[in-house]
Amino acid sequence: SLILYSNKDYNGKTVLVTAGPTQEEIDPVRYISNHSSGKMGYAIAEAARNRGAEVILVTGPVALIPPRYVQIINVTSNADMYNAVMDVYDRCDIIIKAAAVADYKPAEAFKHKIKKTDEDLNLSLKKNIDILKELGKIKGSKILVGFAAETDDLINNAKTKIEKKNLDMIVANDVTVEGSGFKADENLASIIKRDGEILSLNKMSKSELAHKILDIVKTIN
Ligand code: CTP
Ligand code: CA
Repeated sequence: SLILYSNKDYNGKTVLVTAGPTQEEIDPVRYISNHSSGKMGYAIAEAARNRGAEVILVTGPVALIPPRYVQIINVTSNADMYNAVMDVYDRCDIIIKAAAVADYKPAEAFKHKIKKTDEDLNLSLKKNIDILKELGKIKGSKILVGFAAETDDLINNAKTKIEKKNLDMIVANDVTVEGSGFKADENLASIIKRDGEILSLNKMSKSELAHKILDIVKTIN
């Protein structure tokens, strides 16, 4: 959809958006990942661009056409995403972390394809870097927005993440809701601000939600 915003309220702002899943290599032909489609992050990047922002989109592997007039940085793993984000972080005023980052990676990435044997196989996993938490430690005057994908106790889990990661706000998704979340074109979300204010939104398109998020970001400071 082509929506022209005469209101360039993000003029002069640089917005960093992360989107999509990360893939953590097991061996040259296999990886660990998740169901993120990248649609939410791409919608935010596009909305921010339409509102006049300079946009940097750090994206995991997705099947989407990259938005035009946005700086695209393609990444695969959590480590790649961390490095890409840290490279551009200084230039950004607002960071919106819509990516579904893998929490763990295989403890060793096998250089050769793991061959099947008659035995079961145990994979040992190592904790990944929490990119958003690292950003929270060096936040300064930047605005940090997280996402929370939850299957239960949505608001409390999301509030805990605001504290732990030093966020200004979090967009909380109940991923068990039919036709919402990871792969859908629509999203049912609650936005929680650092001060505890909760905005429970109706189900809306990811593009509409992107604009809502940007509207609320503007109310911070
Ligand atoms: N995130 C991140 N780096 C990670 C994991 C998550 O930057 N290694 C970010 C996500 O991009 C998202 C936020 O942290 O904006 C919350 O992600 P989520 O998976 O909901 O929370 P976790 O802290 O990973 O906790 P859990 O998965 O156990 O609920
Ligand atoms: Ca997680």
